[in-house]
Amino acid sequence: MIKPSFDPHSYAQPEEAVVKHLSWEANIRFDERFIDAIATWQVECKQESKHVVFDSDRLVINNVWVDGKQTEWNIVQQKDHLGTGLVVDLPKKHKYKVEVKIQYRTVSSAKALFWAVPQQTYGKVDPFMFSQSQAILARTWIPCQDSPGIRFTYDAKVTVPTGMMALMSAENPVEKSFNGVYRFRMEQPIPSYLMAIAVGDIEYRAIGPKTGVYAEPGLINEAANEFSELNEMMAAAEKLYGTYVWGKYDILVLPPSFPFGGMENPRLTFATPTIISGDKSLVSLVAHELAHSWSGNLVTNRTWDDFWLNEGFTVYFENRIMEEVKGKEYANMLANLGYSDLMEELENLKDSPDDTKLKLDLAGRNPDDGMTSIAYEKGFFLLKLLEVNWGRENLDNFLRSYFAQYKFKVMDTESFVSLLRQQLGDGPYTELRIDEWIYKPGVPSNIPKINSERFNKVDIVASNWNAGMALSPEVAKEWTTHEWLRFIEKIPGNTAVERLKELDDSYGLTNSGNAEILCAWLEKSLMAGYDEVLPSTQKFLYRVGRRKFLVPIYKALIASNKKNIALDIYKEARGSYHAVSTQTIDDLLGFNA
Ligand code: BES
Ligand code: ZN
Repeated sequence: MIKPSFDPHSYAQPEEAVVKHLSWEANIRFDERFIDAIATWQVECKQESKHVVFDSDRLVINNVWVDGKQTEWNIVQQKDHLGTGLVVDLPKKHKYKVEVKIQYRTVSSAKALFWAVPQQTYGKVDPFMFSQSQAILARTWIPCQDSPGIRFTYDAKVTVPTGMMALMSAENPVEKSFNGVYRFRMEQPIPSYLMAIAVGDIEYRAIGPKTGVYAEPGLINEAANEFSELNEMMAAAEKLYGTYVWGKYDILVLPPSFPFGGMENPRLTFATPTIISGDKSLVSLVAHELAHSWSGNLVTNRTWDDFWLNEGFTVYFENRIMEEVKGKEYANMLANLGYSDLMEELENLKDSPDDTKLKLDLAGRNPDDGMTSIAYEKGFFLLKLLEVNWGRENLDNFLRSYFAQYKFKVMDTESFVSLLRQQLGDGPYTELRIDEWIYKPGVPSNIPKINSERFNKVDIVASNWNAGMALSPEVAKEWTTHEWLRFIEKIPGNTAVERLKELDDSYGLTNSGNAEILCAWLEKSLMAGYDEVLPSTQKFLYRVGRRKFLVPIYKALIASNKKNIALDIYKEARGSYHAVSTQTIDDLLGFNA
């Protein structure tokens, strides 16, 4: 009936009929936890096309019109995680351009959407809702052609309860409207995974002429202070790889249920509040999301199998921004933490070596399952290898023209490989073992070593500590967040509980206000049986829904024979986690909702 698509994670048949523009009219219904909406799509199709196919996942479709006439539609389904194909019949005779209008509503369990009750917000008075569309969840709140290779522009009219502010991945308001109605425009074509919405008691604060921050009123000062380097980051990014083309760049601080650290929604990065540490030490995450304004949002991976083109390039770009803003040593520390993540991920994936290739094969699977640190860190080290061997200037020129030439287009691994081969020449291409990097599991032995003087010193201190010496306050007081992370990483799994307690008594790690340090410390302590951290662990798991923190902590509880405790905590905490996180933790704990 419908042909297999060019993207294994979408039912869309863009060669038959492809979307170009969306007009979205929506009512955000907090009480019922659904969105009532009309999506009007401008579609371009072949004269002989019989249908236009959208992706949808548990949407309740009420009516469909084509060019103003009510029309039949069918639902098809192949794989549960893909949702359903919504096949809209086209009239026998139709023009090259048609308008498809879909009246629908979402279900309260729509996977992209999180509906926070007041208790789950900072202010504790109003509710808050937000979306997370990447990778294939846009279809749970908008019927769309949900493939990263299909781009469209959009406008929207969104109605929310008065007193709340609505924001989207578009031109945004800076003040609340008097009647709860907001209008949006996104004039640059974007893929569906960058569709985003958030509604809550939100305030705006400008940081620079084209940058700023949105947060709940009680958090806005802290947020503005934490992200005060945003302008420098923007200047560094533009200097490196070209003009920022999206107009404004703002950050929205979400409630702690947000399942990711950050999400690069165009013009409006969504961010976890756990990066607000008070000392700006976790802002490389902002550099990362900003970098996606080029790698990912301008030049976009064709399918999720090419995910490394989005994330690996972005980690490299992030590192370069941080080098500009904070210096080389800082960037080298970040790269070394990334190297450790890469080694850990290779170990995690030792039974599924195919997932350690840069080019993935995610057909038949939920793409989320294959999106690991490999794309990020192995991708980063491949670009670093090019930098080291080809020269920074050559690589930068290559990247600048890559972004300029392919902006608003898609890129896949094969096209990138042929571009690179052409630029680099066959000899160096082969010598650097690029094919092996991209198409083979594991990491080739020519992975560049990045030296960090500060980490070398930490490593000496750590080995002395492991040999029984105390950690001297004179040394530790000079440490930044990243040095602490390195030190904690170097603590052996079988360290005696008394030694951990001694550290804790001196440095208060169990009560750290830095979420990265706290997470690393809790994981290490649980594994070593230092169970005095349990109350703090429980508090953290109740408060924070960021998957990157939940996974290691729940895993550590399981691995240290505390699965019953993990389950007790999870039963209580699960309601404050987004579906992206519960899906992962349900599997981890064998939990049946
Ligand atoms: N685009 C990703 C988040 C993502 C990836 C969402 C895959 C859904 C599927 C975002 O840019 C990201 O990488 N976030 C990281 C932070 C970053 C500093 C590595 C995160 O959330 O931890
Ligand atoms: Zn990213």
